[in-house]
Amino acid sequence: MFSQLQHPPADPILGLSVKFSADNNPDKIDLGAGIYKDNTGKTPVLDCVKIAEQFRVDQEVSKAYLGSKGSALFNDKIAALILGDHKVLLENRIRTVSTPGGTGALRIAGELINKTKPGATIWVSNPTWANHQGIFKAAGLNVKTYPYYDYENKCLDFDGMIAALKLIPKDDAVLFHACCHNPSGMDLNPQQWQEVAQLSKEIGFMPVIDIAYQGFGEGLEADAFGVRLMAETVEQMIICSSCSKNFGLYRERIGACSIIGKSVSAADIIGAVMVTVVRVNYSMPPAHGAAIVETILDSAELTAQWHIELKEMRDRIGDMRHLLVDKLIENGVSRDFSFIAKQNGMFSFLGIDAAQIDRLQSEFGIYVVGSSRISLAAISTDNVDYLTKSIAKVL
Ligand code: LMR
Repeated sequence: MFSQLQHPPADPILGLSVKFSADNNPDKIDLGAGIYKDNTGKTPVLDCVKIAEQFRVDQEVSKAYLGSKGSALFNDKIAALILGDHKVLLENRIRTVSTPGGTGALRIAGELINKTKPGATIWVSNPTWANHQGIFKAAGLNVKTYPYYDYENKCLDFDGMIAALKLIPKDDAVLFHACCHNPSGMDLNPQQWQEVAQLSKEIGFMPVIDIAYQGFGEGLEADAFGVRLMAETVEQMIICSSCSKNFGLYRERIGACSIIGKSVSAADIIGAVMVTVVRVNYSMPPAHGAAIVETILDSAELTAQWHIELKEMRDRIGDMRHLLVDKLIENGVSRDFSFIAKQNGMFSFLGIDAAQIDRLQSEFGIYVVGSSRISLAAISTDNVDYLTKSIAKVL
């Protein structure tokens, strides 16, 4: 049976990490996968996570199944983190399941859409996270793209986006990034969110919001502006969230899929169907990451500590954006990279070509995704000179 299989191409992001690990260059820098690193190059376990984890180990009395929805406390806390004291929570119109990471949430969302309307179309931004298309296609959906990033002017192509959204048929789904757009770092401003939310309501397509970086842009509240506004404006929507980045729980695989229905009874049906989708996928989600997150969010003290640690990560990435731009100038680069300091979250496109990306890798051990996406979170005060001098050479 397996003799028919052919070797697949390397994953554009994870394949790069494999190559990076095998590189012997002592100065190598991995600007590929979106993993936060501190200024010493380590991906720390947050202190609040350590405390919560110890507490759970001490308190845990059973490893019995939790059920397909996962932990009810986690689900409530994560919905409140994303939506605040939003009316959809008060109206009891949201149903949440814990999922294995944000990827699991997207897959459940995709399968639920496909179950409702087999072969439905979902529109994703051009560009989008390298795994979005694959996840939705694997769930049986047809994937199309709408314009988003203006590569030439290094800004949002908002007019192009709106023009394309206006033509999307009712009952198609449309994926939006809540904040820290991956890969471009270009986010919608509040006024643009107003327009997009209004259009979603008028046309009637199903918004699917991926919120994987809440707290990495401007802050927990500001980063949720778009998702909260959308929930205020439309009757039904899907929210896929992740705790990988903001809680630093990458390998624990914890995220959530939350669906807002038109009414309590509609939400009940959606929630019940979502459970059947989970059951045939992985039966039940892993529990450890959810236990850590709910312990933090259920304690005012740990939540306050988490806010401090999250701010430290956010501020460091912001500092590295400015430092990169300044050092490029200092090291003789005349091309304008100032757009990097204006963008949000972990990523930006450098805007260099394939030959320059190859040279960075082969000559300098600097690993950049093929789209020229870089993770700002991998830059430090120690490696920024080597990085910017290398960029200056390939330019
Ligand atoms: C990324 O975009 O680099 C991260 O979300 C890691 C991944 O799974 O691709």
